[in-house]
Amino acid sequence: MTHTLILGAKSDIAQAIAYQFARHGHSLTLAAREVDLLDPLAKDITIQHQQPVHLREFDGLDFASHGEFYENLPEKPTVVVCVFGYLGDQKQAEGDFAETQRIINSNYTGAVSIINLVAQDLEQRQNGTIIGISSVAGDRGRQSNYIYGSAKAAFSTYLSGLRNRLVKSGVHVITVKPGYVATRMTANMDLPQPITASPQQVATAIYNAYRSKTNILYTLWMWRWILLIIRSIPEGIFKKLNL
Ligand SMILES: NC(=O)c1ccc[n+]([C@@H]2O[C@H](COP(=O)([O-])OP(=O)(O)OC[C@H]3O[C@@H](n4cnc5c(N)ncnc54)[C@H](OP(=O)(O)O)[C@@H]3O)[C@@H](O)[C@H]2O)c1
Repeated sequence: MTHTLILGAKSDIAQAIAYQFARHGHSLTLAAREVDLLDPLAKDITIQHQQPVHLREFDGLDFASHGEFYENLPEKPTVVVCVFGYLGDQKQAEGDFAETQRIINSNYTGAVSIINLVAQDLEQRQNGTIIGISSVAGDRGRQSNYIYGSAKAAFSTYLSGLRNRLVKSGVHVITVKPGYVATRMTANMDLPQPITASPQQVATAIYNAYRSKTNILYTLWMWRWILLIIRSIPEGIFKKLNL
């Protein structure tokens, strides 16, 4: 049985991923802050899919705890999905470095801290898959969210380098770049329906990417082309746009 660790498991996307992987026969460790709140979810997954589900307390910002967290897992995972992230408040962050730091650490430093440990373990075991949820926001900086976007850009670059390092050990790394997803994170935004995914759509695409060893996954698929266009706009024009 394949064991999957989900980091930031209270997220709407993470919960959909948990059901998707359990449906396909994976046992799970769900890791999150205030993880007891996931007790009903764990019980439901166990009933629906007959898979054992462990719960572990995890804070992406508590870097010093990550070694002990990984060491004490009930089972060593062969699939690790790093989902946690924080959109933050761009306007606030422009004048408040504490908010800037929280955005950077939640989307980049915390992920690197835990994935470094995962990578060492999977490299030694010569097997496994690391899946990181980055964002299309990292593909080009925009005035409306460039602090979050720059942290996601750093995370995408980290995952690219890690994929390059681990390929010879038989460990695969997937970078997931969602566009808009209807979750708690975007609940107060007016998202354009045709290019907004549900957490279930993202989870299905991630499972398929895991099976097919995709390197970089855009969800929904059209975001790959949207970003191709956005990236190709000359900087002289792009800087004047209200994005
Ligand atoms: N929704 C979108 O449109 C969209 C687009 C592109 C990328 N993404 C990315 O997708 C991922 C999942 O987000 P979502 O849309 O599912 O939003 P969400 O439901 O708000 O999930 C974010 C999760 O991250 C967790 N988290 C934040 N800081 C953490 C920390 N220090 N330690 C542990 N957990 C922490 C939160 O935990 P608590 O529940 O404890 O607060 C929350 O469960 C994020 O990385 C996000 O950046 C989302």
